[in-house]
Amino acid sequence: MKAGSSLVALLILGLCGLGQSQRIEDICTLFSNNTVIRDPESCSRSITCIDGKSVYSTCKGTTPFFDKDTLKCVKTLDGSDSCDVTCANATGLFISDPKSCFGYYYCMDEETPVYGACPDSTHFNETIQECTWSHASECKASSFDYCSIIKNGVNFDNLQGCNRYHVCTKGELKDETCKTGYYQARTGTCVDKNLVECDVHPLPSNVCGTAKSPKKNELVPDGATCQGYFFCAEQANGTPDENPTWGKCGDDLFFDKSSQKCIEPNKVVCSEDRCQGRTIPFVLSSTKGCRHYLRCADGRTIDEKTCGNYFFDEANAVCVAQILTYAIC
Ligand SMILES: *[C@@H]1O[C@H](CO)[C@@H](O)[C@H](O)[C@H]1NC(C)=O
Ligand SMILES: *[C@@H]1O[C@H](CO)[C@@H](O)[C@H](O)[C@H]1NC(C)=O
Ligand SMILES: *[C@@H]1O[C@H](CO)[C@@H](O)[C@H](O)[C@H]1NC(C)=O
Repeated sequence: MKAGSSLVALLILGLCGLGQSQRIEDICTLFSNNTVIRDPESCSRSITCIDGKSVYSTCKGTTPFFDKDTLKCVKTLDGSDSCDVTCANATGLFISDPKSCFGYYYCMDEETPVYGACPDSTHFNETIQECTWSHASECKASSFDYCSIIKNGVNFDNLQGCNRYHVCTKGELKDETCKTGYYQARTGTCVDKNLVECDVHPLPSNVCGTAKSPKKNELVPDGATCQGYFFCAEQANGTPDENPTWGKCGDDLFFDKSSQKCIEPNKVVCSEDRCQGRTIPFVLSSTKGCRHYLRCADGRTIDEKTCGNYFFDEANAVCVAQILTYAIC
């Protein structure tokens, strides 16, 4: 998973308080701050994403439905909306929410459904007009499609790859790719790839070789970090591996293609961010002459500094007069 997978795990636990076994992980990990969507599990609730967390609000009274396009509570939705619920002939009765097993509407009159939800661990049963234990219920949560809860033109994360995102266009889900960099869910934009924590790096083209010369049980650089590599497994039919697995070296080690090993960073020529995967605040820069160093924070380069006529001694984090040479500079 990409950025925020541990957050997602936390949120799954966090959501247990709400008690609905069929609830999905917090959908707001996919959306930028302050995006408003309709709750996939209710026609009457909206979700505002605040710092990656869902904040719910419910449409009440005579405007019981949430319109995902205008972001308002409305009296009725367009007939084409999958949330078309009607109280016709149901005055004084409860009817099921089509989006979840636990939601229902109470029909005040033929035109006024009022949203409600069953208590934790229970499902609404329209036949008997009651909430019953969910383990005894035959209700299955309906699947949802993103474009029925999100208005057109809002970017959101596609967990399939760090440079990919989704957008709904005319109600259809589109798969988009950043022109440069990686997609940052928090801001809804493509940013420098070093700013996105990623473990679903896009595959470089021909990463495992070509049909003529496929790589067989070989590690190759991931083309995105100095630490990461793909393992290209030999395929029974002799074609290049199309789904190589990604891995990375431990702290303060970079992947070296020629030895197929994780080794000391200053022996590995790599043009990706040399601060990534390092545990020290100053690292040697690959600028020619070995007189420059990078200042690092949170595994990213802040800037490059020079030792002037001196050389950078990484181990002691000082500039020294003694001539130092390394493979990378
Ligand atoms: C997200 O939005 C909320 C509410 O508008 C704001 O308080 C918060 O600072 C924002 N978070 C970020 C990271 O900008
Ligand atoms: C409501 O009841 C009337 C009369 O029985 C019937 O004609 C109509 O189809 C019903 N409408 C719905 C939505 O069930
Ligand atoms: C609702 O309750 C009835 C009667 O107990 C039962 O036959 C039916 O399967 C229940 N419906 C669902 C969806 O669980």
